[in-house]
Amino acid sequence: STIESLGDLKGKRVLVRSDLNVPLEWDAGTPVITDDGRIRASVPTIRQLSEAGARVVVTAHLGRPDGAPDPAYSLAPVAARLGELLGRDVAFATDTVGESASATVEGLGEGDVAVLENVRFNSGETSKDDAVRASFADQLAQLADAFVSDGFGVVHRKQASVYDVALRLPSAMGGLVATEIDVLRRLTVDPDRPYVVVLGGSKVSDKLGVIDNLLEKADKLLIGGGMVFTFLKAQGLEVGKSLLEEDQLETCTRYVAEAKERGVEIVLPTDIVVADSFGDEASARVVPASEIPAEALGLDIGPESAQAFAAALADARTVFWNGPMGVFEVPAFAGGTRVVAEALTKVDGLSVVGGGDSAAAVRQLGFEESAFGHISTGGGASLEYLEGKELPGIAVLERD
Ligand code: 3PG
Repeated sequence: STIESLGDLKGKRVLVRSDLNVPLEWDAGTPVITDDGRIRASVPTIRQLSEAGARVVVTAHLGRPDGAPDPAYSLAPVAARLGELLGRDVAFATDTVGESASATVEGLGEGDVAVLENVRFNSGETSKDDAVRASFADQLAQLADAFVSDGFGVVHRKQASVYDVALRLPSAMGGLVATEIDVLRRLTVDPDRPYVVVLGGSKVSDKLGVIDNLLEKADKLLIGGGMVFTFLKAQGLEVGKSLLEEDQLETCTRYVAEAKERGVEIVLPTDIVVADSFGDEASARVVPASEIPAEALGLDIGPESAQAFAAALADARTVFWNGPMGVFEVPAFAGGTRVVAEALTKVDGLSVVGGGDSAAAVRQLGFEESAFGHISTGGGASLEYLEGKELPGIAVLERD
């Protein structure tokens, strides 16, 4: 159900679960948000509720604190950034369901916005014990008359502010979640062809479910990033000191065989940018994938491979990309990710950048977000959707 189904929100207290989990760096004791993409993506729903006259109460998490207050994970700098983006004052409660929260919500006028302190400062939020989560969700629900679920990045979590609270208040899906689900559905139900999937990032083991599911749907699978070395090793190549998941070698061999049977083309890099140690730009050099020196480690796909990936993307009508091709934060190892991102911007069809690191990468490399069909705000959530798993935060909104 959409926000409209909640009826007239004027004067009503609306609790919005957003995903404001952004990367923070500390500069001499001052928190600096290095990528505010998720905060910007959360603005339209918050603004919509504010314009409808609601008293808007935003709940969100930052990082993975230990179920207790920890200043290193305070949402205060995020609330400040949200205020800048909204162009209005945003009140901040220094707890989530305590005295500060009650007083802050009490003080909201029509259209005002407040952010509650990190919901994961409360052990009830992530508890595996249903009763413990439920009692925390009861407290959260007391702060509001209605609930809007707009934190797509957390809908795969069965947590109090995502799942249990929706059982306690009239609830609706925010526009961000609705758009994300709509796009992901287009990647899984009858995608336009050719359908090319690009996977990178450090671990094969994080992507097993997605590969299993997408091998049945995609026409081509391009593999780069740290995970590619396990694939290369499984092909009998030496990978030196590169990332390697010994326990996934057999799985990689099976994927290559399965792809062949299904007529899915798996494209692996033919050249690699290696260095003597992690991030060591001075020693960066390109070698054939079959000649990675024993003492070196691979940190990016090479230029020839990047061009081959771009060529494979040129006629695609549907593309899903998750995971950088190399250590893009370091210029000498950003080439593969840059070329792939560039190729995605030219896709004549639906191009989706799947969350987390790849979304941060395209922004950090200076690409305009509008050049892509869709940049997902969800990392784990979009992968779990593509694995075909049920997302608790969605299922709870769709129940009868
Ligand atoms: C994310 O960063 O993918 C979401 O905010 C979820 O965070 P989590 O993995 O700590 O639950």
